[in-house]
Amino acid sequence: MNKEQQQPCDASWPSPIVEPMDSVGPVELGSGAGALGCSPEVLSHPSDSSKLVQECLQQFMVTEAQLQQIRASLLSSMEQGLMGQNPASAVRMLPTYVGSTPHGTEQGDFVVLELGATGASMRVLWVTLTGIEGCRVDPRSREFVIPPEVMLGPGQQLFDFAARCLAEFLEAFPVKNRCLPLGFNFSFPCHQTGLDRSTLISWTKGFRCSGVEGRDVVQLLREAIERQGASSLAVVAVVNDTVGTMMDCDPGLGPCEVGLVVDTGTNACYMEEARHVASLDEDRGRVCVSVEWGSFSDDKALGPVLTPFDKALDQGSLNPGAQRFEKMIGGLYLGELVRLVLAHLARRGLLFGGCTSPALLNQGSVGLEHVAEMEDPSSGEARVLAVLQNLGLSPGASDVKLVQLVCEAVSTRAARLCAAALAAVLGRLQHSREQHALQIAVATGGQVFKRHPRFHSLLQKTVILLAPGCDISFIPSVDGGGRGVAVVTAVAARLADHRRLLEETLAPFRLDREQLAAVQVQMREAMAKGLQGEASSLRMLPTYVRATPDGSERGDFLALDLGGTNFRVLLVRVTTGGVQITSQVYAIPERVTQGSGQQLFDHIVDCIVDFQQRQGLGGQSLPLGFTFSFPCRQLGLDQGILLNWTKGFNASDCEGQDVVALLREAIGRRQAVELNVVAIVNDTVGTMMSCGYEDHHCEVGLIVGTGTNACYMEELQNVAAVAGDSGHMCINMEWGAFGDDGTLSVPSTCFDASVDRASINPGKQRFEKLISGMYLGEIVRYILLHLNSLGVLFRGQQTQCLQTRDIFKTKFLSEIESDSLALRQVRAILEDLGLPLTSDDALIVREVCQAVSRRAAQLCGAGVAAVVEKIRENRGLEELMVTVGVDGTLYKLHPHFSSLVAATVKDLAPRCTVTFLQSEDGSGKGAALVTAVACRLAQTTRV
Ligand code: BG6
Ligand code: GLC
Ligand code: GLC
Repeated sequence: MNKEQQQPCDASWPSPIVEPMDSVGPVELGSGAGALGCSPEVLSHPSDSSKLVQECLQQFMVTEAQLQQIRASLLSSMEQGLMGQNPASAVRMLPTYVGSTPHGTEQGDFVVLELGATGASMRVLWVTLTGIEGCRVDPRSREFVIPPEVMLGPGQQLFDFAARCLAEFLEAFPVKNRCLPLGFNFSFPCHQTGLDRSTLISWTKGFRCSGVEGRDVVQLLREAIERQGASSLAVVAVVNDTVGTMMDCDPGLGPCEVGLVVDTGTNACYMEEARHVASLDEDRGRVCVSVEWGSFSDDKALGPVLTPFDKALDQGSLNPGAQRFEKMIGGLYLGELVRLVLAHLARRGLLFGGCTSPALLNQGSVGLEHVAEMEDPSSGEARVLAVLQNLGLSPGASDVKLVQLVCEAVSTRAARLCAAALAAVLGRLQHSREQHALQIAVATGGQVFKRHPRFHSLLQKTVILLAPGCDISFIPSVDGGGRGVAVVTAVAARLADHRRLLEETLAPFRLDREQLAAVQVQMREAMAKGLQGEASSLRMLPTYVRATPDGSERGDFLALDLGGTNFRVLLVRVTTGGVQITSQVYAIPERVTQGSGQQLFDHIVDCIVDFQQRQGLGGQSLPLGFTFSFPCRQLGLDQGILLNWTKGFNASDCEGQDVVALLREAIGRRQAVELNVVAIVNDTVGTMMSCGYEDHHCEVGLIVGTGTNACYMEELQNVAAVAGDSGHMCINMEWGAFGDDGTLSVPSTCFDASVDRASINPGKQRFEKLISGMYLGEIVRYILLHLNSLGVLFRGQQTQCLQTRDIFKTKFLSEIESDSLALRQVRAILEDLGLPLTSDDALIVREVCQAVSRRAAQLCGAGVAAVVEKIRENRGLEELMVTVGVDGTLYKLHPHFSSLVAATVKDLAPRCTVTFLQSEDGSGKGAALVTAVACRLAQTTRV
């Protein structure tokens, strides 16, 4: 007995509900020769056939309970997908980079390339967006049939074919010397990492080109376009067809937040709350998510509705086991399902007098268009007959109705399953928006909607049943989503434009090795000239500190520390057991820093008196070391003539004066105190001394704080201003002024110029203004203002707070650039300042901060490289090991500054092994140590 006879249709498949999924059905695929011909077992009575056919078609019946189960199961699968838990059955829930529905203001000419939505063809469109609501210009388009060998061949061949189609299409347009933005409508599951970056996960539907899965399809298209020589096209966006469909909706009709496609395949996208998408670092706004429901494969929900026809279809497909849900709905499969059923029924003798035809047994011979036509009530019997005859069949009078029943069963099931899936999406929207009564517009697109006479109404009816709380308007997409893709492309083109403007703005901040090496060389030259007393922007001031501490210093000392973020008074006890420090920070109001010198020094003495009282030091005259972090020409350890104020200080009548004398005068005015000022010390020197107490290799002091500067131990013989040829002396370079003579080769940007102009010392401290904490925030603020004026930031809206001087503190750079900070925290910092920014804005601000602080760190590194190389050469050493003592809020708080400085030094001074040692106790300790050394030496001399 032949196998088919063992399993008559009605007996073997009584109902899809009891049919086990893996039963070996009698369905045969393809054109197996043995299957061709007429069945010996023809049922003669038409009403019997009809009954048996209907019984067979029962398998395509999906009950409401089953639909509800599919809806619920898909919904939970979507939720798992959103949370990033991806069991095999979960749908992918791929975030796109589309964050808003169209505004209607997008404008320009765009080229759209569609690949993968509608079967074996590629469509190229020319879309003009007018920017005026309700004013649509119909796109011009052309379709190109993709040869089967291209759909299944090497990826490069497919993309080259696409590039040729584009070139051919554009021949009809005047595009010379124009760069046209291209939107790539690529309808396959992709991991997107940007509007123009998208990695194909796997081919679906009828495509299987090698070497494309796992690669960025935008890049592949760009390469192909380049090979083709069509340089006038810039691929700026890649979009799934569902997204194009959603974005195609006229904004005048209200926001449309779901895109549903039933074309060759099927899928939907919708606007999800960004905070629910685990893979995004975003807590506000919405993002369009492509569900990729075609791959939904939960056995429990789908098992009962899968027929052996589905199984046979799956096995004969290009991707067996994958896209099971899509294979029950998508247009690529509906015709094939009908063909399988017809062939089966013919073999059973229930149709066509038991005869098949070669065409009927040939995979793919029945298409969506045939199914649609045969079901179309307006076609009439004659059309059905014609379709069947074209398949080489000889239909009898009763066959027409039965064939129509087959088509209806297959397409009705498809529409109802699709409705269950849509109901899951609507359920998700209800849940995430906490709106039980959801009012929503769904954009629909694809050949199945367009061609099939009943699909839309069936779907609509079923959705109403499954999603009772939703008021849904279905809006058919007008031009297959092409316009929607153009809208996304317009946004992407704007972003690409912004990126270009951002790059142009930041380009002068990006220094290459050659530029940094040039800075190092210039610094070396300026050092040499400064030491020789020749004209130089580096003053190279002798400090009269001749040695770093040797550990034998002892005693109690007072120290003052003026010129950084804080003014401090300290009591420093240097004992055999180490150094103990007690200190107190005092505020110096701006009216004092910018008032008269007398006011400033009286204030300082008041603070010392207060400190002495608090510490019970009244009546004692301890030796005092004064850290005074401004350029002073010293004539001895306790004499320092202020050359000029720097940073925010501007007290009158001080420049040109000996600050130790000014302090002593103030002490004199306050008759109650006696103080013994022994040494005046720059903060760099204090830092070097302080670190030198711990590490005897420390011969360089570096400050990167409010200001920046360095000092180092120079051979006395090289210091023209001080007599003597042996030994060393610490030189305060005052490198903040480097380049004040106009010789600095680093490009000064217009932002640097603005910072300089607004400072209290225009034209002065140029190097410092590129590097130190007092200025970096301001540089960033000027850049942000500029980007805002270009429309790159804050949607071009004027922001009052950015006009406020010093609003952008340098500590924000440190916070914003911290790697551990999520983007939303960056945004929170900026929002606290009153900046109305999006996530894109936050990214841009971060990039600006990075560019500014990187330049600062590299310039600082170039300076340090010059210093350590000078020490090495002074000593005639092949290799130098040296420690740099460092202090300053920028250096200490910024997450990358210190490593960038170190990397630059390593690169530019490869023969020096440089250790950076952070000073923990501030320069006050160093000033006390200098004082201690001076006291020890004074005693020795007395002895
Ligand atoms: C500290 C010193 O160690 O570093 C200050 O005690 C110095 O005098 C400071 O000016 C530099 O850092 P900032 O960031 O406070 O300017
Ligand atoms: C397939 C693709 C999907 C697309 C759908 C409709 O399911 O994987 O990306 O949206 O077909 O074309
Ligand atoms: C300024 C001062 C300098 C000081 C530096 C760091 O550049 O002129 O003396 O060392 O700031 O505080």
